[in-house]
Amino acid sequence: MQLSEYLALVDSLAHDARALLDGIDPATRVDAAKGQLNALKDARMVALQGALRDLPAADKRAAGGAFNGLKTMVDELMESFIARQRAASGTGPALDLSMPARRTWAGSLHPVTIVIDEICDIFRELGFTIALGPEAETEHYNFGALNFPPDHPAMELHDTLYLGDDTLLRTHTSPVQVRTLQRYAPPIRILAPGTVFRRDPFDASHAPAFAQVEGLAVDEGISFVDLKATLAEFARRFYGKSRRVRFGPSYFPFVEPGAQMDVEVDLNDGKGLRWVEILGCGMVHPNVIEAAGIDSEKYTGWAFGMGPARIAMSRYDISDIRVLYDSDVRFLEQFAR
Ligand code: DAH
Repeated sequence: MQLSEYLALVDSLAHDARALLDGIDPATRVDAAKGQLNALKDARMVALQGALRDLPAADKRAAGGAFNGLKTMVDELMESFIARQRAASGTGPALDLSMPARRTWAGSLHPVTIVIDEICDIFRELGFTIALGPEAETEHYNFGALNFPPDHPAMELHDTLYLGDDTLLRTHTSPVQVRTLQRYAPPIRILAPGTVFRRDPFDASHAPAFAQVEGLAVDEGISFVDLKATLAEFARRFYGKSRRVRFGPSYFPFVEPGAQMDVEVDLNDGKGLRWVEILGCGMVHPNVIEAAGIDSEKYTGWAFGMGPARIAMSRYDISDIRVLYDSDVRFLEQFAR
């Protein structure tokens, strides 16, 4: 082969490669463009490289230079094709890697849910299991079996949401005590979390639907000491040892004696430290134990009912219960962990 012939082959390959990449549809993906380019040039490059050996020694230098120039040119054509593609799609080196990442909202548990979970965890360690009951209850389970006299004011229309006949939305989780006592033989240690309903106004400290956690322990030889020791231990684990709690007398028809536990809080509303009632408790009334068909001479027990919303407010210094119902992400995301 003559040198001129060789150089003409190099030129024609360079021309074809440029024509290919100039004419290619900009929507072609880079790897597809590379494939088309290789299909065009590979066999012809190998032939040109082989032909180098057969050229007269005097022409080898010039021909080799042209061959190398061709290789560089094809690579540059490919580079500029890639650069054009990137510029068109707005990616590539124009990407600013120092831009802060966009924050993603991973969601969080509601503060009342966090508190219920923690209460359940603490009592689980103390030997309690979870029990559940219906939200639509009968008057019997909600009131009668819990030793409410038939004319008790809690049963008034303006306090309770009746569904008709003797069905109502439970006003507390205490009916789960009766259902559990009827179903299982002592020893019993249960915790019953759930929603309860009252015809209460929606204000800073009341809501018409809210959560309660009921507790019940029934066995032989259970005394008020067990009640006080267990609830004080709960408060220590939940609030930490330095938080002050106190017990005081209270009245509920289904316990005798009845008590309440208060915790000292500062709600950061400028009013300073105060006592807030977080639960009612007491020794289960013998009438309740008997109504469930259990011998009250042999078995005694204690019970409590606490309000996780009140507890969440006491723990997180919240002074208005309504923020717990607002679903305001700016409030809720403070509890994301
Ligand atoms: N059921 C009561 C209420 O909703 C709370 C309560 C008080 C539950 C004393 C108990 C208890 O189990 O022993 O106000």
